[in-house]
Amino acid sequence: MVKKNGMRKHSVIQHEAEEFDKETITRVTHGLIPDLRRLKKVAYFYNNPWREPEFVQTQIMPRVDFVLKHLKPRSRVLELGCGRGYLALELARHGHDVRAVDVSSESIAIAKKIAEENPYKKGFGSLKYEVGDIMNMDFGKDKHDAVIFFRTLHHIPRINVLLKKVHHTIKPGGRLIISEPLREEVNEHTAHTAALLRSILPTWEAHGTKRARTASLRDWQNYAQAIYDEYTYKDEHGEKAQSPNDNAIGSEKLMVGAIKKYFRVETLEHHDAFIDKLVGGLRGPHRHALARHLKEFDHEVIKRGMLPGTAIHLVATKK
Ligand SMILES: C[S@@+](CC[C@H](N)C(=O)[O-])C[C@H]1O[C@@H](n2cnc3c(N)ncnc32)[C@H](O)[C@@H]1O
Repeated sequence: MVKKNGMRKHSVIQHEAEEFDKETITRVTHGLIPDLRRLKKVAYFYNNPWREPEFVQTQIMPRVDFVLKHLKPRSRVLELGCGRGYLALELARHGHDVRAVDVSSESIAIAKKIAEENPYKKGFGSLKYEVGDIMNMDFGKDKHDAVIFFRTLHHIPRINVLLKKVHHTIKPGGRLIISEPLREEVNEHTAHTAALLRSILPTWEAHGTKRARTASLRDWQNYAQAIYDEYTYKDEHGEKAQSPNDNAIGSEKLMVGAIKKYFRVETLEHHDAFIDKLVGGLRGPHRHALARHLKEFDHEVIKRGMLPGTAIHLVATKK
């Protein structure tokens, strides 16, 4: 069997890499610059925050700030599943020494190109990108102050095997930091709230489409069901899973339970009740202010227990 980057050809992980290779090529061809300080509008996206720099600021920057806030100065950081590298780059710009790995060679190629172009050199730590399957890599013993998963751990079917290796490579007192969606936390309340907001707010959907979808109670229920499928990535006709291992883990109980075997959880925050597939889709002259307002509202409904968070931010220390 032919091997590429230590992977068996046509294995699930090879397929995973190919899907992200394709996604990266398509998005970059359509104008995406995966650099949080050099963002531009990308009209290709319709309900994704990467559509406009202001939406990235509202929806993605709080996750980045969460990671930055929990790193000690000049940390030795390992980011696993770094994709197109925008987080790793930002961490290095804040003076950290970063090693970042992804199985998608196209994503790493773009990440390297963007890092080479980096005009923000003051206080830069160091940055090294690598292509590889993190399930088959040895990260070394007591090597890192922090290991980060940024929307990647939910792609890992054998999470216990990986977390054991992560535990091994984190120095005593070091940290695991994650920001992950957990799509099994989406429920009917999520879907109906998102349906209501989408039907009344200016979004990418034309007025006529909205009217048809909400003409009768039956239409409404179908609409809410379609949104449920979209948020859980089960919709065959609309939003699909990004890759074969997307949603390998979808529940907080499973993910946090696995983490607790090796780590002591210090911080656990819940985010993104309904906002994830809405914020980048807002249209109209007031869309940026509306996005910020909805972000606050989203936070509030989670805090008051009205809707479940469908993403978590977590910090844990090595046991
Ligand atoms: C949803 S993307 C997130 C990427 C990036 N962290 C971000 O926030 O844009 C998941 C990433 O995990 C990578 N990935 C999945 N399984 C992997 C594995 N076994 N080894 C290395 N990377 C993997 C994929 O190639 C993909 O880039």
